[in-house]
Amino acid sequence: MSTNKNIHFSDDAMALVQKIINRYPEGKQKSALLPILHIAQAEFDGWLSPEVMDYVASLLKIQPIEVYEVATFYSMFNMKPVGKCLIEVCRTGPCWLMGAEDVVRYIEKKLGIKAGETTADGMFTLKTVECLASCGTAPMMQIGETYHENLTLEKVDDILNDHKNRGNRRTHWEKDKVKP
Ligand code: FES
Repeated sequence: MSTNKNIHFSDDAMALVQKIINRYPEGKQKSALLPILHIAQAEFDGWLSPEVMDYVASLLKIQPIEVYEVATFYSMFNMKPVGKCLIEVCRTGPCWLMGAEDVVRYIEKKLGIKAGETTADGMFTLKTVECLASCGTAPMMQIGETYHENLTLEKVDDILNDHKNRGNRRTHWEKDKVKP
């Protein structure tokens, strides 16, 4: 397997990755895959390129296909570049029954994009995702690490305007939330 030499974790991230790998017995490093993919996504601009997944495979001494299978299964991993503000609207049953479809359509109209797309200025990406375990406060969406619950279209408006006004701040999941 050949990996892109330009792709490597920062020292901090690598120390964390190593701690996580060391939790598992020799030959079972694959068990560390999910937390390491989270770190990789946080470290490399909020998405997992094929090169990044190959890099992760090389660290864990597993085949790239094993990483691709896991990364593409979970909706929290992004397979293409995302904007500075990643909006993830839950589309699972309870949220859908409580109006998630209206929320998605409203955001699509407001931002001029479809779910799965990024605005031309690179500011917002809209995704629909599976249950985020906040069904009791449906409909809901996640932006970075913040849950926005009991959504109404007015609330959505305020949240998006707030993010627009904040400009460049990244709102992705942060790697320091992974506990070794
Ligand atoms: S169904 Fe939306 S959080 Fe569970």
